Amino acid sequence: VVKLCCLGVLFLTLAYAIIVIDPTEVIVEDKLSMYEGSYLNRLWKKPPLEVFISIYVFNVTNPEAFMRGEERLRVQELGPYVYQEFLEHRNSTFNPNGTLSFVPVRRQVFVPERSVGDPKEDRIMIPNIALLGVSSAAYRMSTFAAFAVAAALKPLGMAPILNITTHDLLWGYDDPLVRIASTLLPDIIHFQKLGVLDRMFDDGFDTVTINLPQSVRNQNRNAGNDIADDDISDHLTESLQEEYYHDMTSRLKVEEPIRDYSIDVWNGSPGLAHWGYVAKDHWDADKRNTPCNTLQGSYDGSVFPRNISKTEVFKVYRKAFCRTLPIAFEREGEVDGIKAYWFSIKENAFESSVDDPHTSCYCKNNRCLPKGLGDLSPCWYNIPVAVSLPHYYKGDPSLSQAIDGLSPNKEKHDAVIIMQPQLGIPMKANIRVQISLLTNVSFNSELRPFHNTVIPLIWAEMSLEKLTPELILLLNLLFGIAPYLQTGCICILALLGASLIATAALILLCSTEAATFEYDPRKSIRYSTVNMIPYPLRKELEKYGETEIIRREPLLVENSA
Ligand SMILES: *[C@@H]1O[C@H](CO)[C@@H](O)[C@H](O)[C@H]1NC(C)=O
Ligand SMILES: *[C@@H]1O[C@H](CO)[C@@H](O)[C@H](O)[C@H]1NC(C)=O
Ligand SMILES: *[C@@H]1O[C@H](CO)[C@@H](O)[C@H](O)[C@H]1NC(C)=O
Ligand SMILES: *[C@@H]1O[C@H](CO)[C@@H](O)[C@H](O)[C@H]1NC(C)=O
Ligand SMILES: *[C@@H]1O[C@H](CO)[C@@H](O)[C@H](O)[C@H]1NC(C)=O
Ligand SMILES: *[C@@H]1O[C@H](CO)[C@@H](O)[C@H](O)[C@H]1NC(C)=O
Repeated sequence: VVKLCCLGVLFLTLAYAIIVIDPTEVIVEDKLSMYEGSYLNRLWKKPPLEVFISIYVFNVTNPEAFMRGEERLRVQELGPYVYQEFLEHRNSTFNPNGTLSFVPVRRQVFVPERSVGDPKEDRIMIPNIALLGVSSAAYRMSTFAAFAVAAALKPLGMAPILNITTHDLLWGYDDPLVRIASTLLPDIIHFQKLGVLDRMFDDGFDTVTINLPQSVRNQNRNAGNDIADDDISDHLTESLQEEYYHDMTSRLKVEEPIRDYSIDVWNGSPGLAHWGYVAKDHWDADKRNTPCNTLQGSYDGSVFPRNISKTEVFKVYRKAFCRTLPIAFEREGEVDGIKAYWFSIKENAFESSVDDPHTSCYCKNNRCLPKGLGDLSPCWYNIPVAVSLPHYYKGDPSLSQAIDGLSPNKEKHDAVIIMQPQLGIPMKANIRVQISLLTNVSFNSELRPFHNTVIPLIWAEMSLEKLTPELILLLNLLFGIAPYLQTGCICILALLGASLIATAALILLCSTEAATFEYDPRKSIRYSTVNMIPYPLRKELEKYGETEIIRREPLLVENSA
């Protein structure tokens, strides 16, 4: 009976232990946390993901009629020209203050099989970005600058619409005229070569520092590095961390906790200087630093925190956008049989207003761009270029109506990231952005048709199509099968345990009933251990000379059954 009972209790305890310990969670915690050498860390260092960048260019099909002022600009979308992007997180270091620093290195390789043609062969008609851009930038500055630029550029005879290859548009080309212009106007033209993708993937190396979750910080400290073994420096780390928290909370005015994996600093700065962020000790810092130009708390898009909730809004920073973009929960669904959340770019992502601290920094001289356009000029040598969703989807309808050949469409032109909510890793993504040139060139008679227009140049889709089979298998195991297996185990164990205890109880009940009929103190004592025999009773037994028997069989248990 006791054995049965023990087994029953054991099973019940096991079931309870599974509920408490949650082995799936332990495995997830162990394999999929970002600590030195973990599975996630190894994956993250060189993500085995297939990321493709598809480029669509807008070929102008009525250049003559447009320049004569007879027709609206008509464009034809050409593409895709596909590049595969290889990402590596280099030089990653776990800092003692609970952050992780690294250098993301991205490399793009052309994929001819997926492309419509050879970008070095295909010729397109495209507005002259250098000429129109610089003229418009001057117009933005002052009337005098606009006149000066118009006067300087006119004798060069630059064509307003160029006949160039797609490759030249994307990666830039040596234009002798641009070179001459840059010597004439060095203050305004500080580039020799101007390519759209060259600007988007500007590959100066950046050092990014992100916040690690509390649990991971502890794990890193216990991981056997020198700090963990040394009591004094451990203390130091702790006080550093405290200081760090103090610093952080005071900085964020206790508004928000530090979110796991969010950006702490980018190239050493918690904000974007090109949108007006100044160092914390600047006299005007409180006024100038707004949520709009603060980078801290946003995400680089490669990892998100664990246990994502549907109400969360994430700001994602990619250099190509020149800014952070908010994404919000849209719907729930499944990808490859795994639960997933669809996050899409917020309706008002490219809307700026002087009164909104989240977008006011994008308005220069109190002038904001129309809804649907985000200023990119600080990342484009001050040329007035804007980012939007392709075909001005979710933008002001007048933008797409002003150009022939655009038709915004949710399926084709929205930006979504599909995330695995428990882990916070993107499973699928389609980030789509368009680059447009904003032209304002009233001082140049030849360019008059371009006055006050928004001209689409290209749009790009960055897509993560699917995870590697290995990762899918792991996710399936952890989030598809493991929870059922675990619940199954708990149920079976609990049932087994309960039934065993019930059986034991039943047997015990029967046997005690039987025992009451023919009560014999010596017999009942036999089923106990020696030590449990009360002293007076033992004395009594010794008198009977029965102790021998008891000693030889100290633990009689099952005889009763
Ligand atoms: C771009 O448009 C021009 C007409 O303006 C056409 O001649 C040219 O073939 C087009 N380019 C491509 C690659 O289709
Ligand atoms: C990584 O660190 C090494 C040594 O500190 C440095 O030489 C190298 O340039 C760094 N790599 C990147 C991509 O920054
Ligand atoms: C944490 O340490 C890193 C590297 O030393 C540093 O760049 C970062 O500014 C520190 N963060 C804080 C909040 O102190
Ligand atoms: C563009 O230039 C190429 C080669 O110089 C020429 O063959 C083609 O006809 C031109 N396209 C247009 C639309 O002028
Ligand atoms: C995520 O949620 C699970 C279950 O709800 C919980 O056990 C776990 O601790 C959470 N993890 C984090 C990092 O919040
Ligand atoms: C051109 O300038 C006018 C007045 O300065 C402004 O209202 C308009 O938005 C500008 N257009 C573009 C496309 O930048």
